[in-house]
Amino acid sequence: KKVVLAYSGGLDTSVILKWLQQTYGCEVVTFTADLGQGEELEPARRKAEMAGVKQIFVDDLRETFVKDFVFPMFRANALYEGQYLLGTSIARPLIAQRQIEIAEEVGADAVAHGATGKGNDQVRFEVAYYALKPDVTVIAPWREWDLTSRTRLIEFAEKNQIPVTKDKRGEAPFSVDANLLHSSSEGKILEDPAIEADEIVYQRTIRPEDAPDVATTITMDFHNGDAVAINGVALSPATLLTQLNALGKANGIGRLDLVENRFVGMKSRGIYETPGGTILLAAHRGIESITLDREAAHLKDSLMPRYAELIYNGFWFSPERRMLQALIDTSQASVSGRVTLKLYKGNVTVIGRESPNSLYSMKVVTFEDDQGAYNQVDAQGFIKLQALRLRLGAAAGRKGGTP
Ligand code: ARG
Ligand code: SIN
Repeated sequence: KKVVLAYSGGLDTSVILKWLQQTYGCEVVTFTADLGQGEELEPARRKAEMAGVKQIFVDDLRETFVKDFVFPMFRANALYEGQYLLGTSIARPLIAQRQIEIAEEVGADAVAHGATGKGNDQVRFEVAYYALKPDVTVIAPWREWDLTSRTRLIEFAEKNQIPVTKDKRGEAPFSVDANLLHSSSEGKILEDPAIEADEIVYQRTIRPEDAPDVATTITMDFHNGDAVAINGVALSPATLLTQLNALGKANGIGRLDLVENRFVGMKSRGIYETPGGTILLAAHRGIESITLDREAAHLKDSLMPRYAELIYNGFWFSPERRMLQALIDTSQASVSGRVTLKLYKGNVTVIGRESPNSLYSMKVVTFEDDQGAYNQVDAQGFIKLQALRLRLGAAAGRKGGTP
């Protein structure tokens, strides 16, 4: 029996590795993905070797992550509950996909992950596993073992010579998930939503108050809805997002303190930092504002919360997500051009947009003499018919739109 474990090399998955070997007595294959979490991967490899793992997979998935997961999602301007840019949610299907590939390569019939039984991530991993390998056996140690708290987890680690990393205050760390798109912190002192998060929680943005007093102005070029260049320099998807992260970090952009509704039914509080993603969303909306037809844009926007919820709930590999994606991607054929943005103390503002596909007509919209481009008299009948049912209602005694 063989199991492929999604292994970050951190405390939780190190304990899980040991526990799987002890409890199931099975051969564990580890898979560590570089999604741009900003951690060295060699320590994970070394730790796996030291734990006696024979098949160790360490893959750099950064370009795939941004090109095939982050960018398609940003074409939709996806936000969960109006604010969350889905940085963790969008990474899980990719990890699961590669994990299943590896399971098939090494002839494993089981896969394991380190998500708890309380959260979204267990759902995202497992729904993706089942969608890709319907007969797979899933092992979720957090739902099975008797290590029922972080305290007991740390005790187990210490008993088994697994190193416990400490934060700057010498305490056990927050629960952190990070990748090129975002970092998220949950748990510990953050569990009381009434109390402001300590500055120590933030790791990839400076405080907006400490950001430069002079704004940074950049341009971003889009092609078919995807960002392709910053300041005229063409960049690969992962390189582009890396640069946006640096620009966002220096200007204190992309911090979010959020209480959200988890799929399993409880509310949770998290601190998110999505510096590059926050700039990308503003820029994408900027280029869409001149290139998309109104009804195309509004249809897309009306479907966005649904699309975001699908990704949040773990249904990336589902027919409904693929159908929505096809609709969204179709809309992006004209979404090309250049946006100019100002970054300043936690804010990102679109200050200019231009495109060969622009639908913006200065000739029509102008407050000056439009030389017959638009006939204002047309508006009279347009408005009168729009108002017809309201006039009939008012005449029947239901003034002001009384139902
Ligand atoms: N609440 C976020 C989500 O469901 C992040 C979850 C993982 N983050 C963490 N710190 N463990 O997408
Ligand atoms: C976890 O439970 O592993 C993290 C939080 C979540 O999945 O929502």
